[in-house]
Amino acid sequence: MIEIKNVSKSYVKGKKSVDNLNLEIKDGEIFGFLGPNGAGKTTTIRMITGILDFLEGDILIDGKSIKKEPLEAKKCFGFVPDNPDMFLKLKGIEYLTFMADIYDIPNNLRKERIEKLTKKFAIYDDLNNQMQSYSHGMRQKIVICGALLADPKNWILDEPMTGLDPKSAFDLKEMMKEHAKANKTVFFSTHVLEVAEKLCDRVGIINKGKLVFVGTIAELKKKFKEEASLEKLFLEITEKED
Ligand SMILES: Nc1ncnc2c1ncn2[C@@H]1O[C@H](COP(=O)(O)OP(=O)(O)OP(=O)(O)O)[C@@H](O)[C@H]1O
Ligand SMILES: [Mg+2]
Repeated sequence: MIEIKNVSKSYVKGKKSVDNLNLEIKDGEIFGFLGPNGAGKTTTIRMITGILDFLEGDILIDGKSIKKEPLEAKKCFGFVPDNPDMFLKLKGIEYLTFMADIYDIPNNLRKERIEKLTKKFAIYDDLNNQMQSYSHGMRQKIVICGALLADPKNWILDEPMTGLDPKSAFDLKEMMKEHAKANKTVFFSTHVLEVAEKLCDRVGIINKGKLVFVGTIAELKKKFKEEASLEKLFLEITEKED
């Protein structure tokens, strides 16, 4: 469960990139975070994960404040950032071992989990190569494997499907469904409205730092135009604010 309470963020004085955001993502829920480029999705995700500080409000992950008890809060989630270009000098296996060390995964479990995850995403045979030799999609996959290795209860994913081939994107979506079915939480941002429509229990739409809608796709259609496509509704809602 993720609770965002009255959170704002300004990079530049006088301009709020996230403006008094309130959002609750429940256990057992797949929540899609939508919004145009520059709307504030990554900024919000960076605040949830403790990468970016914020002055007002608080964010709780399974009841733990990312501000007041950051280590405890960080134990509760796995995070896939929007850019997988990191630790490129490490071999895939070194990166995953590093993640397993950080999360204190027992030796007997880590080998089994690394094998299972990397075979699922078809990068098992590449683990002994440096990550700088990986393609964009392969980097995305290893970062996903690293984030899920500790079997965290809350998944926080910033555009996780970007660059994945169709099979891996399908597998990840199935994994998200299974995770939510086990009463755990998935919070992810995406630009792919079809994915949001098919996968999400609820969506939030952010525009210019302000949350302009939270609810199910059915509620969104009911509130605006029942016959319209999600794409049309999205464009109308996010253009209206101009
Ligand atoms: N490091 C930064 N310094 C200054 N401004 C920033 C910084 N990062 C983001 N911003 C600004 O904050 C706003 C929100 O950016 P953010 O990256 O959160 O958008 P986003 O919704 O993730 O967009 P995208 O869909 O393109 O990933 C934008 O106006 C952006 O210019
Ligand atoms: Mg972003």
